[in-house]
Amino acid sequence: MNWRGRLLTATAMLMLTAPSFAQDNAPSQQEGLAAWQQVYAVFSHPRCANCHVADERPRWVGAAGSAERIHAFNVQRGVDGSGFGNAGLRCTSCHFESNSKHLNGPPGAPSWHLAPAEMVWHKISSAGICAQIKDPERNGGRTLQEIAEHVREDPLVGWGWKPGPGREPAPGSAEGTYEELERWAAAGAPCPQE
Ligand code: HEC
Ligand code: HEC
Repeated sequence: MNWRGRLLTATAMLMLTAPSFAQDNAPSQQEGLAAWQQVYAVFSHPRCANCHVADERPRWVGAAGSAERIHAFNVQRGVDGSGFGNAGLRCTSCHFESNSKHLNGPPGAPSWHLAPAEMVWHKISSAGICAQIKDPERNGGRTLQEIAEHVREDPLVGWGWKPGPGREPAPGSAEGTYEELERWAAAGAPCPQE
């Protein structure tokens, strides 16, 4: 083949291969939905959802098999809406920086408090949580990258995988959930149907 022929062949090959390279690198919609399913399994787990409630009251335990209860001691989000509890009975009066060693003692992590009511996951569908996570009005103004980093680095989130005696940890790991969130975002952050 002369140089002209080689050039034509090379150009044709480039045109054929270049677009498919891009597609091979980005996860498909289906892979994105599969990644979201793993994220949902974590977010909807009681270790996370017990703090991500719509009303005033955190939930207790509710691990697989055990009945869920409203938090005792009349614990509430707090008059200032901060999530740190009512004046005189702050979350941190009982929840310290690390877990109680006693079964049924208060678990602990730095700055223990309830998630804002708009970040609700408790009893919300996979599609519903997916929409909330993508909505800057309801996710603390975060990009998807910032959501993934929050999951990997925040101590309250991290507590979900080391919840202390008698509590079932959230599935997987913080790092694994970070990676699933990245995969989901790279696929265009698809949400399941209601
Ligand atoms: C008077 C002490 C006390 C106060 C105040 C308190 N808690 Fe608790 N909390 C506990 C105890 C004790 C447990 C463990 C109960 C059990 O497992 O049977 C607990 C458990 C929890 C759990 C369950 C964790 C899980 O998923 O297993 C959450 C969530 C929680 N508290 C959130 C809060 C928040 C948020 C506040 C403040 C708004 C707060 N608590 C204030 C004593 C307290
Ligand atoms: C002790 C209560 C508590 C627990 C337990 C908890 N969170 Fe949160 N979460 C919060 C608070 C408070 C915020 C708000 C923080 C902010 O905006 O700076 C939050 C915010 C978030 C956000 C940011 C934005 C959004 O849209 O919700 C993510 C993501 C998140 N939590 C993931 C998790 C995961 C995953 C778990 C379980 C492995 C978990 N959280 C367990 C209290 C909790």
